[in-house]
Amino acid sequence: MQIFLSTIPKVAIILLPLSISGLTQAATLDGKEVPIHHVSSDNCKECHQTIYKQWKGSMHAQSTALKDPIHGAIYRQTVGDPTKENVKHKASGKYPVCLQCHSPNAALDKTTKLDAKPAYSEGINCVACHTMKRYKGLYGKNGKMQLGQSAYELSDKLQGPNGFLHEQGQAADKLRWQLDDEGELNPHLGRDNKGQPYMTEEDVQEIDLPMEANSSLKTSAACLGCHDKRNNSNGVALCQTGDEYLEGKSQQNCQSCHMPISGGLADHSMGGGHNLAMLKRSVRLDLTTQRVGDKLTIDVVVENMQPHNVPTGAPFRNIYLKLSALSADGKVLWQNYQTHPAKEDAKAFFVYTMMDDANHPVAPPMATKVGKNTRLKPYETRILNYNIPASGVDSVRAELYYNLLWPGMVKKMKKLPAALKAPKRIAWSEEKIR
Ligand code: HEC
Ligand code: HEC
Ligand code: HEC
Ligand code: HEC
Ligand code: HEC
Repeated sequence: MQIFLSTIPKVAIILLPLSISGLTQAATLDGKEVPIHHVSSDNCKECHQTIYKQWKGSMHAQSTALKDPIHGAIYRQTVGDPTKENVKHKASGKYPVCLQCHSPNAALDKTTKLDAKPAYSEGINCVACHTMKRYKGLYGKNGKMQLGQSAYELSDKLQGPNGFLHEQGQAADKLRWQLDDEGELNPHLGRDNKGQPYMTEEDVQEIDLPMEANSSLKTSAACLGCHDKRNNSNGVALCQTGDEYLEGKSQQNCQSCHMPISGGLADHSMGGGHNLAMLKRSVRLDLTTQRVGDKLTIDVVVENMQPHNVPTGAPFRNIYLKLSALSADGKVLWQNYQTHPAKEDAKAFFVYTMMDDANHPVAPPMATKVGKNTRLKPYETRILNYNIPASGVDSVRAELYYNLLWPGMVKKMKKLPAALKAPKRIAWSEEKIR
């Protein structure tokens, strides 16, 4: 009997399905069994140091109201305290839909107390993405939207993008994981393909994070559940990166830009509106000028190089153009606006606005329709034309500024860190007048 037991692979014993919060139990940490969606990213850190660091600096790791100041402010307004249990989404009176995308592990447990476990406060953590088995699509059988993690069939095993999980020599080096004494610790296998244990029985008892191969992680489906369309309770689209992307008919997947290979690994920093380096490659800005009598004709060329709108994402993201004519000693002789282009030079403001029935601009939750949408469409080239007095002008300068928030929100959200409210210069171009 003794002998029989010890020949049963240890994994089989550990993987016995146990039902807790409706999910089978799959992971073992420090010798204790835990549901996979309670596994903190801290448990991945040791072996996946580079990816952990990238993720930790990303907005995915800061996606809850506890960590993201902008989301936090709006979550508190539209939902409530992220440290309290049983909080409801005010508009619908239901469990806050936000958490299906912003804290998927909490949503699985239908809890709203986000500081109760690291796996909740970490927001979109390693297991949140690496348990998504299949993208079911944005609309369920009833025609209703299934958002965030409910758009996916989830697994109780980690999902790895590559096919052979046992070829660890090369990948282990790339992963910069710390080798144990035998140099064979891979907690995703338990055993290699020949039935030889990669890990000692004690290791498996200590840590077991079973994994299966899933190539769908290499497709945009890994992102669209959370990054496609989302409507407010009146059915008005708030974010729609996925829809924009389809409109742009791109064959490129999201990963090719948002998870480029760096240092031999798929980069998990996932830059967007919070990342100046990413913003700087979003558009091409160019300038041509021509003197006609005592006038200067200026064409400002703005080309969106992306397969989705720029700006994309949250409805309040916006970009404006500042165009100035300078004298030889650098004095500004003319500028396209004094305070803000919104009223003074509308064509220079790339923005998505939301309206109520009386056509007044309103906050996203209250909107009943879309107002103006002057964001740059996928791959669009837009030319803005200006005619200005030529006298004394030595050079013309164009600058694009990106803003996370609408000007009205910047004024209202007084407590936000200044860096989140400041316009960021993402492109510039200057031409000397001959
Ligand atoms: C004790 C070390 C260790 C820990 C802890 C660990 N991993 Fe790994 N992981 C590895 C090794 C080694 C590989 C290389 C497997 C290979 O490519 O052969 C790997 C590979 C992977 C892969 C790539 C699979 C593929 O398809 O290429 C993913 C994804 C992954 N781990 C996720 C995680 C997550 C998520 C956690 C935390 C919940 C975690 N790992 C914790 C050692 C570890
Ligand atoms: C479980 C839902 C979920 C999945 C899956 C997901 N994301 Fe995200 N992502 C979010 C949320 C929520 C945020 C916003 C966090 C915040 O700002 O509070 C975000 C933020 C981002 C940002 C940064 C936006 C900014 O404001 O800077 C980028 C870029 C991004 N995601 C790309 C991706 C890509 C690419 C994929 C697929 C490989 C992906 N995401 C998968 C939910 C998800
Ligand atoms: C927003 C979703 C998301 C999050 C969060 C996330 N990953 Fe990934 N991860 C992916 C996707 C998608 C890929 C596949 C990229 C590809 O091959 O195109 C991937 C690939 C990997 C790989 C294989 C890398 C390679 O180049 O072979 C490892 C290892 C990994 N992830 C570990 C982690 C760990 C550890 C964490 C947490 C610190 C984490 N991931 C968080 C989506 C995510
Ligand atoms: C050709 C490169 C490229 C591809 C492909 C691409 N993006 Fe982007 N994405 C960018 C750039 C550059 C930015 C920064 C400009 C901006 O925010 O509009 C960005 C911004 C974003 C943001 C930030 C929005 C915010 O509110 O801050 C999200 C989210 C995003 N992309 C998601 C996706 C998703 C999802 C896909 C796949 C369907 C995708 N992207 C495909 C280049 C790309
Ligand atoms: C379908 C998934 C999804 C749902 C549901 C969702 N969000 Fe988001 N949210 C995102 C994604 C993805 C981003 C970041 C990328 C972007 O801007 O599209 C984001 C960004 C935000 C931002 C901007 C954060 C920043 O740092 O600038 C705020 C604010 C926000 N969400 C609030 C909410 C609130 C409040 C709810 C619930 C009423 C909610 N979201 C529901 C996916 C979602």
